[in-house]
Amino acid sequence: MPFLESLRGYQSRVETALAHWLPAADIQPDHLHQAMRYAVLGDGKRIRPVLVYASGEAFGVDLAVLDGPACAVEMIHAYSLIHDDLPVMDDDDLRRGRPTCHKAYDEATAILAGDALQALAFHVLAHDSTIQVDAGQRLRMIDTLALASGSRGMAGGQAIDLASVGKQLTITELENMHIHKTGALIRSSVELGALSLQDIGQHCFKKVSHYAKCIGLAFQIQDDILDIEGNTEIIGKPQGSDLARNKPTYPNLLGLAGAKQAASDMHAEALASLENFDSKADILREIADYIVKREK
Ligand code: IPE
Ligand code: IPE
Ligand code: MG
Ligand code: MG
Ligand code: MG
Repeated sequence: MPFLESLRGYQSRVETALAHWLPAADIQPDHLHQAMRYAVLGDGKRIRPVLVYASGEAFGVDLAVLDGPACAVEMIHAYSLIHDDLPVMDDDDLRRGRPTCHKAYDEATAILAGDALQALAFHVLAHDSTIQVDAGQRLRMIDTLALASGSRGMAGGQAIDLASVGKQLTITELENMHIHKTGALIRSSVELGALSLQDIGQHCFKKVSHYAKCIGLAFQIQDDILDIEGNTEIIGKPQGSDLARNKPTYPNLLGLAGAKQAASDMHAEALASLENFDSKADILREIADYIVKREK
């Protein structure tokens, strides 16, 4: 199947599952539930759920088993975006082509919508009846997402990001920030797909996890590049936001050509990690290509 067709299939699949797991807009407190649905069901690329599906399929897991983990990572991601856009963080007004959650609602509702989405993600992983692994492995899945989301993952990376505004980081420090703020959740997406197979071998797991580490870093480098080269209409968020807020980014440290080279190096390392995987992993290879070529 052509890559874009697979991508659209995964995207619409997770959107249906998300609409099901999210509390209905008329359930009390309805304002909060509306804000949660607004933030999650907008025009996102769904790259993290796509990675859950693609990784699971690379190991022969049924798509139906992967809906829960796919929804859980997207809920964490949507929560991270709501909080990332708040005035105390990046102070952005546009997200996924429309007003950010705190602009469409209000700041308190946006904070609570993020909080509630984070909790809902873990509820889904704990309760989803289609997940087929045993209780021990389900716990490992919950822990994988918890570690990737918290102070040693995404939230920690966001703290480093905020503490680094206006500072000149070394390349090692910048890489560390990106690996945490964005890489951790992307890595956990691939890991959750792999852990959806009860008997995933350690060797395969390590290889696919390294692939994920590389594409996670490449994803944020490309995000930094799009802040300079992208078009607000296409990226759906304000181009130039990093520059305006004096954020440390790859282009800022290495120049545009250096940043592109860094993304390309990560892409090559990701593919090398999959070299012993069969054609079922082709979709993971295509996602690696997409991540460094994307304009959105
Ligand atoms: C944006 O993520 C925030 C980063 C971690 C770079 P995405 O580029 O995946 O945003 P959506 O989900 O498609 O809107
Ligand atoms: C965001 O990084 C990372 C997370 C939301 C965890 P950015 O601040 O670069 O993301 P955008 O560019 O606003 O989407
Ligand atoms: Mg940010
Ligand atoms: Mg931001
Ligand atoms: Mg950005």
